[in-house]
Amino acid sequence: GLPYYQELARKGEVHFEPSREMYLVLSHRLVRRVLTDPHTFSCRNGIENVFKDATSAPALLGLDPPDHTRLRALAASAFTPQTVARLKRCTYELAHRVLNEVIEAGAMDVVADISDKLPLMVIAGILGLPRDDWKHFLRWSHYIAAAAAPTVTREKEADHRGPLLEMRRYLLAEIEDRRTRPMEDLLSRFVHADVEGARLDTEEVLSLTMLLVSAGHGTTANGIGQGIRWLLAHPDQLDKLRRDRRLLPTAVEEILRYDPPMYMVPRVVTRTVDLEGHTLEEGDRLLYVAATANRDENVFSYPDQFDITRDPNPHLSFGYGIHFCLGAALARQEMRAALDVILDRCLHLERADTAPLEHGGAVHLNGLKHLRVRFQPGA
Ligand code: HEM
Repeated sequence: GLPYYQELARKGEVHFEPSREMYLVLSHRLVRRVLTDPHTFSCRNGIENVFKDATSAPALLGLDPPDHTRLRALAASAFTPQTVARLKRCTYELAHRVLNEVIEAGAMDVVADISDKLPLMVIAGILGLPRDDWKHFLRWSHYIAAAAAPTVTREKEADHRGPLLEMRRYLLAEIEDRRTRPMEDLLSRFVHADVEGARLDTEEVLSLTMLLVSAGHGTTANGIGQGIRWLLAHPDQLDKLRRDRRLLPTAVEEILRYDPPMYMVPRVVTRTVDLEGHTLEEGDRLLYVAATANRDENVFSYPDQFDITRDPNPHLSFGYGIHFCLGAALARQEMRAALDVILDRCLHLERADTAPLEHGGAVHLNGLKHLRVRFQPGA
């Protein structure tokens, strides 16, 4: 857990973890250094093969420049703050829609009833896929996340193959459809895009689409779940936010800082390089640890305090540099909408049980298995 890594961070900015044969980069300063030097600290670390059972093209997240640069530009145009702002009303409507299903019961599991649904419905809508297919995406997304875990084994990989091929077949049919009948959606844009004089091939469209579904789901779901969790654990902060929703933007940043949806992210070293007295060689693997960088005393005052008014808040939960989260604006909007709608409509919100919370979802993601709450239904 976090206390273990914080203890390591107190001892030094870099730590070699023999059990994983990996370096951990723990301080804010060094994480930024690693992320601003993508040629030395490369993303070609194996995760580019996450979708290998479903498509031969590596995903954006596993590419270095220049391949990364041209694909990123294409996808980024659909996720600019301006484009995302236009989706605000729709995001709120979807948040109301998922809450409608549980509001009368006066109780819900935030994970299953809200956070697992909303991000998938939003991204499906953007891509132009039927929103009600979120259940399929949820299943596929779990398999992708499991396949992406650093601890995945050969046998486990075999379990993922079936569902990933199913996802491939599903998306191929949609892609073929957009080739002949373009629509006003992101999938059509990918299919017909002209990138430096060439079309993306089907495999590239597939891997981009699969990345958006998987990157957009688990992380944001964790952000929403952990958000409600930490607000409930800090009643004064919850009260403050209830009274003044203008604090939603800083509250969301603080949730992301305090408990990042992705604790640590891998890189691989491409040349001999010195990091604070450790000599790293080509092929060495490292993890940058957002969770400890976000608690770095040199950057954040009272870093262990959960303060929804914290500003500025230069946390590294969305990464930094050329791979900075493409969906950050969208994720922020989804988290704000979910929290806003839940606070509006769920009065006297509280945990429904006192059992310790269990980790859920993929091992490398910081998710909750359940977060059961009860409340008095409001409007
Ligand atoms: C990249 C976190 C939501 C799409 C990243 C990275 C992080 C991250 C840390 C950088 C990984 C690295 O350095 O290797 C998060 C968190 C989210 C979130 C915490 C929610 C709170 C989303 C959403 C989308 C998305 C909603 C979908 C639209 C992507 C993509 C990349 C990425 C496509 C790869 C960008 C690139 O390689 O250039 N995200 N993400 N993310 N994220 Fe997110």
